Amino acid sequence: MRTNNKSISIVLILIFLISGATKAQQKQTDAERLAWWHEAKFGMFIHWGVYSMYGGVYKGYQQARGDAAWIENRCKIPVAEYRENAKQFNPVNYNPDAWAKMAKDAGMKYLIITAKHHDGFALFDSKASDWNVVDATIYGKDLLKPLAEACKKYGIKLGFYYSQAVDWTNPGASAARRLMKEGWPNPDSTKIDTYTKEHDGHWDPIQLTSTFDQYIDQVAVPQVKELLTNYGEVSVLWWDYATQMKTVEGSEKLKKLLDIQPNIITNDRLHPDFPGDTRTPEQAIPDRDAVEGQTWETCMTMSSSWGYKKNDSGWKSSEILIRNLVKIAARGGNYLLNIGPKPDGTFPEESIQRLKEIGQWMNVNGEAIYGTQASPLNILPWGECTKKETKDNTILYLSVFDWPKDGKLKINGLRNKIVSARLLANGVKLKISSAQNDLIINVPETAPDQIASVIKLEVKGRVEKINTSSPKKKMQSGALD
Ligand code: GLC
Repeated sequence: MRTNNKSISIVLILIFLISGATKAQQKQTDAERLAWWHEAKFGMFIHWGVYSMYGGVYKGYQQARGDAAWIENRCKIPVAEYRENAKQFNPVNYNPDAWAKMAKDAGMKYLIITAKHHDGFALFDSKASDWNVVDATIYGKDLLKPLAEACKKYGIKLGFYYSQAVDWTNPGASAARRLMKEGWPNPDSTKIDTYTKEHDGHWDPIQLTSTFDQYIDQVAVPQVKELLTNYGEVSVLWWDYATQMKTVEGSEKLKKLLDIQPNIITNDRLHPDFPGDTRTPEQAIPDRDAVEGQTWETCMTMSSSWGYKKNDSGWKSSEILIRNLVKIAARGGNYLLNIGPKPDGTFPEESIQRLKEIGQWMNVNGEAIYGTQASPLNILPWGECTKKETKDNTILYLSVFDWPKDGKLKINGLRNKIVSARLLANGVKLKISSAQNDLIINVPETAPDQIASVIKLEVKGRVEKINTSSPKKKMQSGALD
């Protein structure tokens, strides 16, 4: 009897252990897989590479149009010359620990870096192409390994951007044709434009020495495999430029590699036929109705360029960036905010300053962002709203941009019984009254925060959608340029 009991318990323990182990490796459901991402709301995008050395300037000319990360194409830099220059890439001040800490202190929960952007330069040690930081530069060290460690240390999820279709240096890939006049006043512009027209956007014969299939098989597939194998947990694979992806077969091969990281999240930029998990409106906050019920992330620059640009004058204020984050959360999306590090490995001062200011706001008001859902209230003249549901109640976080001069914050049409209203910053209780169809929250004379003051309003039950009459517009997803 005794031995029997013992063997039964051993068997039970074994079953428990085995089922636990298989559970850990099991593929999660889509909802489970995306749960952290929805909770996170806010991530850091990083565009960094050889283009950062140019800072948008070639032969003394400011690149005439488009992103500084596009300089190889827009200025039609010969591949050998671009590679020669890359030898001097030497980010001696690169401090991935400081990067991850800045992301964390800003309230960001994930970080996505250009493991390989359109210039094809791999920021990692790659066996598939010597056009990588270890083999092609004086610096000679993998940049992603220490970043992966730093992200882990600070609890930041790591994702890789990978330009799978466009590559201007590894031969065979797509080029995405641009005209010479978008670069610098090259005396040979007419000739070059004719050449790119006849060669599918390529400007250097060396780009034509492989086929697209060869490029996919020999560079893209093995590199994505390296990225998904050598850096521990990879939470996001951020493809880019679906419309430049020439074959379905190529995208199928890349898609299959995602099984290496079964719980990875991917975007909709692998191929037009592959929706992925997340839609990717770029540089814009989509219309409320266009994104209802969808999984989406607005990626946006802090300045006027993804890649580092010298003398960049297009910096958005912290006020705009914070309000963007609130607006995006209020429509149920995520905000992926970009930094273009300098060639020495440091973030531009302007970015550091903005990250700090966003962090200060998030420190006080993060509760109104993380884990929230889209607003049930649509037209709010004074700001935005996010929502959390508890078992019996609903919490509405009212982010007020325009503080009412008369001390009365009005919400039209909200009929739920009010549980409480408090300033999120200091817990001060606010009095509620009503007039006609308006609920009135009586607020102090001055706004607690000049950018966005949050009122935490708890009401009984669920809140029905109110004032949802804005026009239907389709969301623009994918590359703009
Ligand atoms: C655009 C740009 C590309 C950038 C991307 C980020 O597609 O072409 O350079 O990386 O946006 O969303």
